[in-house]
Amino acid sequence: MAAAARARFHRLRVTAVDRLTDDSVALTFAVPQELREAYRHAPGQHLALRRTVDGTEVRRTYSICSAAPADGAPRTLRVGVRLVDGGAFSTYAHKEIAVGDELEVMTPAGRFTLDTTPDTTPDAAPGHYAAVVGGSGITPVLSIATTLLDRAPEARFCLIRSDRTTASTMFLEEVADLKDRYPDRFQLVTVLSREEQQAGLASGRLDQERLTALLPALLPVERMAGWFLCGPLGLVQSAERALRGLGVRRDRIHEEIFHVDAGPAPDRAGRTSTPAHSTVTAQLDGRAGSWPVQSGESLLETVLRNRPDAPYACKGGVCGTCRAFLVSGSVTMDRNFALEPEETEAGYVLACQSRPTTEKVELDFDR
Ligand code: FES
Repeated sequence: MAAAARARFHRLRVTAVDRLTDDSVALTFAVPQELREAYRHAPGQHLALRRTVDGTEVRRTYSICSAAPADGAPRTLRVGVRLVDGGAFSTYAHKEIAVGDELEVMTPAGRFTLDTTPDTTPDAAPGHYAAVVGGSGITPVLSIATTLLDRAPEARFCLIRSDRTTASTMFLEEVADLKDRYPDRFQLVTVLSREEQQAGLASGRLDQERLTALLPALLPVERMAGWFLCGPLGLVQSAERALRGLGVRRDRIHEEIFHVDAGPAPDRAGRTSTPAHSTVTAQLDGRAGSWPVQSGESLLETVLRNRPDAPYACKGGVCGTCRAFLVSGSVTMDRNFALEPEETEAGYVLACQSRPTTEKVELDFDR
């Protein structure tokens, strides 16, 4: 089987830096003609940006907010970057990046995407989608909603967004523009957690209980063709529990988590099944190699020591860039906020979170 096209870095020129809020910017990159195929993307995908700080490579992923063009090959790409306290990349993006700079940008990745394959189940409402987003979770959903409404004249989209205040809300103008362009097909519900109620805006937190009451009042919940949940872990989990409780099928719920705290280090002391010596064999870009796994390292770290071109971005179990197929052997994952249950059942793992539990493990990054 031919190797799958894998993510690669190219230098792209910044053509706009737009301040969205006090703590967020949108960066636009020009995509030269010869790279447009490489940057073909589905709405909802993200780009990893990388730079080297004091000799250490830093990578961060940022979702594409621009619509996917009808011909698939983008001339520009726009991403949203929210400032994170002490964030090595976001601080640089806010303070230093200027029009004309060239950045190293990975080709698009991610599976939090719009699947417009018609759902033929009798109860499905075709082309009717909804999203529950918090904070910067709007970024990929803006691309999904815009692409869908632009391309499918019958499609409808309901966006339920949660933010702290109006001033901290990203892409206000872009969302207002969708409302202007598609008044009958785009529905917007905004909930602000730290602002007194204004005309038309709800206040307070969106938790499971509130969503369970709110969603059926807005939509035929269980008949929607797809639900996109994106934002902080707590919100996404609350929304998923609310939807499942309201009878929504698991395969109609798509999730992308932003902002996962590092949390306590996983306790591996009790894992008696971890072998003293393991070897990983990895297939990458059509070439395979085998290397010993050193104590305490993830399979991604083992592969990276020998193949620096191995794909990764967050190393935190969130972005899914390091996804690989487990051909043989077994692993345990420290955490997984990126792969859907169907993917893990099909045999995919996150290399950055995987520790071997057998003496030999074989991964295929090309599948
Ligand atoms: S590198 Fe992001 S999930 Fe592994």
